[in-house]
Amino acid sequence: MNPSRAAWLSSTLATCLVGTASAGPLVWASMGEDAYRLLRRAGAQMEQVEPHALPSETIYLMRVDEDALPRLSRDVHEQLHRCGGYIVHASRAEGRQTLARFKSGVGPQGKVSYAIDDAAEVNALLPQLQESQVRSSIVQLSTAYKNRYYTTTGGVNASDDLAQSWKQLAAGRTDVTVKQFTHPSWPQKSVILTIKGTTRPKQIVVIGGHLDSTVGFTNENSIAPGADDDASGVASLQEVVRVLLTSGYQPRRTLQFIAYAAEEVGLRGSAAIAADYRAKGKKVVGALQLDMTNYQGGTNDITMITDYTNAAQNQFVRDLAAYYLPTLVVKNDACGYACSDHASWTSNGYVASFPFEAPMSQYNPYIHTSQDTIDKSGNTADHAIKFSRLALAYAIELGSDGPAPVAPRK
Ligand code: BES
Ligand code: ZN
Repeated sequence: MNPSRAAWLSSTLATCLVGTASAGPLVWASMGEDAYRLLRRAGAQMEQVEPHALPSETIYLMRVDEDALPRLSRDVHEQLHRCGGYIVHASRAEGRQTLARFKSGVGPQGKVSYAIDDAAEVNALLPQLQESQVRSSIVQLSTAYKNRYYTTTGGVNASDDLAQSWKQLAAGRTDVTVKQFTHPSWPQKSVILTIKGTTRPKQIVVIGGHLDSTVGFTNENSIAPGADDDASGVASLQEVVRVLLTSGYQPRRTLQFIAYAAEEVGLRGSAAIAADYRAKGKKVVGALQLDMTNYQGGTNDITMITDYTNAAQNQFVRDLAAYYLPTLVVKNDACGYACSDHASWTSNGYVASFPFEAPMSQYNPYIHTSQDTIDKSGNTADHAIKFSRLALAYAIELGSDGPAPVAPRK
């Protein structure tokens, strides 16, 4: 028997003998200590484990049974009430490079000004944001498909439909494009709407959320509405797009609004996009992540995630909230390693922030279940609209790069 067949047979036998559901291919993944311990306790198949000491915690890079990962995420949420975040890597080398970049924490972008100097423009547009628009987008995304998983028909259709509706928003603007970003390893595409900057088009400001949904092991017929996780984030940012475009706002920097594919399976969509941008030397001056915006779960309005995000930009986002939305209660918390797509920007050397719906002890308990529906938020988007307001202020203040130009005299 040739050696590879022998290895295959012995691993198959081991799987059968242990009797776990362990049947998936091995993938490269990195995760924090808690997640790693849980995986070990569950008896998940893993190989070539290597610890990497980051300044804040030890991260484990390994080859692991892909089918153990959905359960891992569920167990960490249930037992530890935080994310069992992990990043899936294309190879060991790519995993090591990602961890090395987390360590160095240096980004390719230059210094940016966080001065708040576009109040006239921001205050003119804030009242145009409508809760009813955000609500209907959440309802649409969470009811039009059985699920938006990265491999299913629903997931593919959600991407195609979103691209279509963003194209309608962009109609008539020659400086606005909508493109789907194809991922060669799975069928769901990410969607990117770009408003080209007038004077500094090469500098990009990113506002993103993830389009996919999950209930753990998800297939064609799984019911995964993902109303909060993360139809809410996509709906919140889409409302910013609507208002910016209908008002004719033109940023000096380029603005990109991104609905990422395949976040729920290890940040795969955003990791591909952020790595592509880094490889091309694209200057992303800042990224804002909106993932779960519509479940208040306590008295805080906005919880700034402090780990794997950029402290200076986080302060800018807090300053924006204090200046434009002074009634909001803004607090801090940490969500753990790689809990959402902001980590993909951070690991590629970019500046990212993640304003979140609630503290870790109070986030929506229905995520990743068939019960993640908008009725859990009282059938309104009252909470999500706050994140639209914050994102609008961020888009204009960072997108304008200095005071907005004085309107020409008539
Ligand atoms: N929206 C969640 C992230 C989240 C959940 C942040 C609860 C804070 C509190 C995201 O979609 C998610 O589910 N992330 C996974 C990790 C991912 C890399 C597979 C998770 O939390 O298990
Ligand atoms: Zn999720």
